[in-house]
Amino acid sequence: MEETLSIIKPDGVGKKIIGTIFKRFEDAGLEIVNIKRLTLTTEKAGEFYYMHKDRPFYPELVKFMTSGPCVPFVIKGENAILKVRELMGATDPSEADAGTIRADFADSIDKNIIHGSDSKESAEREISFFFD
Ligand code: CMP
Repeated sequence: MEETLSIIKPDGVGKKIIGTIFKRFEDAGLEIVNIKRLTLTTEKAGEFYYMHKDRPFYPELVKFMTSGPCVPFVIKGENAILKVRELMGATDPSEADAGTIRADFADSIDKNIIHGSDSKESAEREISFFFD
């Protein structure tokens, strides 16, 4: 059993697809074991994405992630980290496989609906970032 952290970003909340996204994970046999809805401050968003701080897209990323409420949640299941990443699709929706969340709903690489931890280490850090 593995746990991973996902965030429905402000565009996903704005498009009212929280339920649709949860259903995709549940239909894939995964369990949602913790959920929050909050608006990130600039400081918290910057801290969450600190590994990208030198990338050109970082200022836009922080601005977007603080632009409205987001929904961080914890997903549990066998190979949850990989399964969640497969269900999300590629970071750039134009490269995402058909039927994935990003292919179906995302407008661009910047506004790509959802985040998911990319490794066991990230999952641990990201879960404790949002949940005690
Ligand atoms: P996410 O999985 O939340 O992790 C960092 C985010 O930065 C990523 O999704 C994208 O929304 C955004 N981003 C914008 N440009 C890029 C890029 N060139 N490479 C990776 N991520 C990018």
